[in-house]
Amino acid sequence: MTDLASALSAANAAVFATLGLDARHAEVRRSDRPDLAEFQCNGALAAAKAAGKKPLELAGEIAAAWDNTGLAAKPTIAGPGFLNFTVSANALTLRAQAIAEDARAGASLVARKRRVIVDYGGPNVAKGMHVGHLRASIIGESIKRVFRFRGDEVWGDAHFGDWGFQMGLMITAIEDELGGLADAPKLDARLQGLSLDYLEAAYPAAAAKAREDVAFRDRARKATAALQAGAEPHRTIWKAMHDVSMAAQKRDFASLGVDFDLWLGESDADPLIPEMVRDLESKGLLEEDQGARIVRVAGPGERKKKKLDDGTVIEVESPDPLLVISSEGSAMYGTTDLATIVQRVRDQQPDLILYVVDQRQADHFEQVYRAAAKAGYIAREALEHTGFGTMNGSDGKPFKTRAGGVLKLGDLIGQAEEKARARLREAEIGADFTTEEFEDVAHKVAIAAIKFADLSNFRGTSYVFDLDRFMSFEGKTGPYLLYQAVRIKSVMRTA
Ligand code: ARG
Repeated sequence: MTDLASALSAANAAVFATLGLDARHAEVRRSDRPDLAEFQCNGALAAAKAAGKKPLELAGEIAAAWDNTGLAAKPTIAGPGFLNFTVSANALTLRAQAIAEDARAGASLVARKRRVIVDYGGPNVAKGMHVGHLRASIIGESIKRVFRFRGDEVWGDAHFGDWGFQMGLMITAIEDELGGLADAPKLDARLQGLSLDYLEAAYPAAAAKAREDVAFRDRARKATAALQAGAEPHRTIWKAMHDVSMAAQKRDFASLGVDFDLWLGESDADPLIPEMVRDLESKGLLEEDQGARIVRVAGPGERKKKKLDDGTVIEVESPDPLLVISSEGSAMYGTTDLATIVQRVRDQQPDLILYVVDQRQADHFEQVYRAAAKAGYIAREALEHTGFGTMNGSDGKPFKTRAGGVLKLGDLIGQAEEKARARLREAEIGADFTTEEFEDVAHKVAIAAIKFADLSNFRGTSYVFDLDRFMSFEGKTGPYLLYQAVRIKSVMRTA
C-alpha cells in the first residue's frame, strides 16, 4: 500500500519528467510547517540550478503542469520556490478507508530486513524482580514488537544475571547458615525447601554483611571463582537458586505480557570465556593490572579527572578499562557481556543488538562495545545502548517501598490491581461480572495503567510513580484509552 507522500512523490516525478527535469528532485515529504501545508517538495531549487533557470519560475511551471490526478490540487509556491501540497478530501477518504481495511493499518515493511537482538528485562537470580526491571521490560518489549512489526527478524533475550558475585554471596550465606557445606543430606534438605522469599530475604542480608565483613566478602569472592570453575556443591546450589528464581520471574513477565524468544543468562556465555580470553591474549589486548586482567578501551588523549580517597585529583584514561578477569580469577559483569556478544554473533549473526538497560549503566556498555569492536567480534555501530531514566518515588529518588526496600514487581502489579478494582467499583463497571471476569478486567486495567504511564514518558527522562494519576479514568492514561475503546465499540453496536 502506498502512503500519501509516496503517491505524491510519484505524481510529482511524472510532472518533472514531462518538463524534462531530473525526477530525483521530485520527492514530496511531510511538511515541516504543517500550518502552511500538509506536504512539501523543495526539489524545484535543485532542479532549477541543474536546468539553469530561476527557481521561482521553474516552480511556477511545475505547479502549472500539475492538474491530472485528483490526489491534490495544484501546489502553491512559497519562499524561493518551495512547492506546498494539500491533499484532496477524496484522496484522504480513500487513504483512510484503505488504512482501516489493512491489517497493518497502512504501515509498510522495512526495505531491507535486519537481524536484531533486543536484550531487555535483565532480572537477577536470587534477587526478585524489582521496579528497576519494570521499565526495561516494558520499553524492551515495545521496541521488540515494533521492530518485528516493521519486518525485521527479532529475538528478545532476557539475559539473566545469574553468574556474578551475588551467586558467590548466596553460596557463602548458605554455607554459614548450615555451618558448612560438607553434610550432603543437610544441604539437600535446604535446597529442597528453597523459595524465592528465602532468597529475597537472604540476599540483602548477605550483601550488607559483605560490605562490612572483609573475611565474609573474601570467602564470597572465592566461592564465586569456585562456582565458575565448576566446583561442587557450588554448581548444585547455583542450579537450585537459578531454577527457583527463573520460575518466579517467568510468572512476573507473563503477568506483564512480556515474553522472550531466548531465556539465556550470563552463565550460558561462560563456556565461551576461556577461548575468548585466549583470543584476547593472542591479539595482544589483555594487560595485567594489579593481579587482574583488563582490556584498555580509551583512545589516545581520552582522559578524565578522578578524585582519590585522600582528596588528590589525578588524570586517568576514560572510559575505564574493561575488567576481564578479577584478581581472584572470576569473570566479571563485562566479561559475560563480551562473551555473550561472541555467542550471539555465532548463533544469530545479528546486524544490531539493542541493550534496553538503565541509563546509569552507560559507561559499562561503552567499555564492552569498544572491547568487542577492538577484538573484531562485531562492528561498534551494531551495538546500541537504549538507556532510560529511572522510575522515581515522590521524593524524586529511585522508587522504594515505605520501609525503604526495593518494591518487588509482583507487589507493584498487586497494588495496581487493587486500585483498579476500586476504580471499577467506583465507576460501577462490572457489577454483573463473574469474579473471574472482574479479576481479568482489573488485571488488564492495571497493566494498561502501568505500561501506558511508562511509555508515554520520554524514554530518557525519569518520572514519578503515581498510581492514582496513572489509574485515572480521565486524561492521558491507559485506563482512559481502554474505556474509550469500549465506549466506541458500544456506540458502533448501537448504530
Ligand atoms: N542484570 C542486570 C541488572 O540487573 C541487567 C542486564 C542487562 N543486560 C546486559 N546485557 N548487561 O542490572
